[in-house]
Amino acid sequence: MIAPSVDLAEEILSLKRERNAVILAHNYQVREIQELADFVGDSLGLSFQAAKTDAEVIAFCGVHFMAETAKIINPSKTVVLPDLDAGCSLSESCPADKLAAYLERHADKNYYVIAYINCSAGVKALSDVICTSGNAVKIVRAAPADRNILFVPDQNLGSWVMEKTGREMELWKGNCYVHVEFTQNSINRIREQYPEAAVVAHPECTFAVRLLADEVCSTERMISYCRESDAKAFIIVTESGMLHRLRREMPDKVFIPGPTEACACADCRFMKMNTLEKLHDALLNLRPEITLPEAVRARAELPIRRMLELSA
Ligand code: 13P
Ligand code: SF4
Repeated sequence: MIAPSVDLAEEILSLKRERNAVILAHNYQVREIQELADFVGDSLGLSFQAAKTDAEVIAFCGVHFMAETAKIINPSKTVVLPDLDAGCSLSESCPADKLAAYLERHADKNYYVIAYINCSAGVKALSDVICTSGNAVKIVRAAPADRNILFVPDQNLGSWVMEKTGREMELWKGNCYVHVEFTQNSINRIREQYPEAAVVAHPECTFAVRLLADEVCSTERMISYCRESDAKAFIIVTESGMLHRLRREMPDKVFIPGPTEACACADCRFMKMNTLEKLHDALLNLRPEITLPEAVRARAELPIRRMLELSA
């Protein structure tokens, strides 16, 4: 740790230059990190940035599967994640050994496996193609018509894509512990308070909540939707970090956090593990570093590349 008198943000920027690093941050990161980052975006935008960067170090301010994806697609880079414990409940819900056993038990189905990017490298290595919330509809539409689709690990995103595409899929029963906390009641109550506000929800929300939304979309699409909309106020039904970017980019509009039954807004405890202090230390020590066995990395790269090609 550095002395509190030192300007941490300045220190980070100077370390970034010394290390020839790029700072990539997800839309759910704390405001101070978003303000320092070279790029702030959703999982898809971050994957494209990680794939094309020529910096030597990628300081990834997000959760583990995001930093791991960066390492998979750009393996010669040093990828650091400020807190290695920044996991994801969706990723945890689908361990690679369980998926492998399931695929073996149902080998007769010859599944085409579509994995939401919120999963481990081991799960990616068992998949045919990866998707994010920003391109899931496109990826499912591009799937071979004669194959059974197994969609892992988010059943809510999966059922939303089934509604949008009309394509039958088998869904792994995972969910995001943050987005399932929004309920029909909690969103209806805030709508009564702000009847003019448009409701924008992430597809990881439950069906009952998605039904109340004017728009269901990825975090990046939330930015363009709110910018293009005539509405002046929006109820944002996703993780609270999203509000920083929306407010920064559209200071003339009003953004109200979607509440859960228990809280006025929803925080992802994993996303919030990253702090400026930890980012500083990660750039200083080049630790914690993301590493993975080459065989897994190389196999996991194939479905990610397929996704990037289909989304370009
Ligand atoms: P986006 O790709 O839409 O940013 O979603 C990532 C995520 O983890 C949502 O909970
Ligand atoms: Fe995972 Fe949910 Fe956190 Fe996104 S908000 S990183 S899906 S636990």
